Amino acid sequence: MSKNFYDLENQERKSLAASIKVGAMCRVEKFDPDAMTVDVQPLSKVLDGGVYRIPPQVIGVPVSLIRGGGFVLRPWYAAGDVGVIVYLDHDIDRIVEAGQECQPNTERNHSGEDALFIGAFVPANKKLTGLPAQSLVMAPEGGNVYLAVTQSGIEIKGNITIIGNITQEGRTDVTGDVTAQGKSLASHTHTCPHGGTSGPN
Ligand SMILES: [Fe+2]
Repeated sequence: MSKNFYDLENQERKSLAASIKVGAMCRVEKFDPDAMTVDVQPLSKVLDGGVYRIPPQVIGVPVSLIRGGGFVLRPWYAAGDVGVIVYLDHDIDRIVEAGQECQPNTERNHSGEDALFIGAFVPANKKLTGLPAQSLVMAPEGGNVYLAVTQSGIEIKGNITIIGNITQEGRTDVTGDVTAQGKSLASHTHTCPHGGTSGPN
């Protein structure tokens, strides 16, 4: 066979390999928390006829999250976030609807339409700051509020609202005051049996 044939074959293989979608870095354009989907803009420009062009957005991409056994760790995204999508082998439309075995709606493979958003990455120019090290952290960015699980305990920064009761083994030490039904522990008074009042004791 001629060299030209091999060149053609190699070029065809290269084109075929380049056309198979596997994954992409992307930017979130829109987040739908009800549907748990994002619209994303793939960030790597695609060479098209000698010109690098921005590829089309991928719309309604399901968000991957930790959910199982009746538990969920729900992320929240916003326009401008950057993350990664993976492209699935088959048409995912019916499975996304039903969450069970389905015949693919179409026979498309590695299509740009069949993506799953698997989460964020941290660009070098937008590092995380203000969060405690050596801990598993759940927090808004910036460090003003966080819940940090460390090897020695749990550290919470920020105001806490508890809907429900508190049961505790061990003591509570408070540097400020404690109020119960409107009465201050530090400054409440008692009515004395023979008149007058006394302070806390
Ligand atoms: Fe008292």
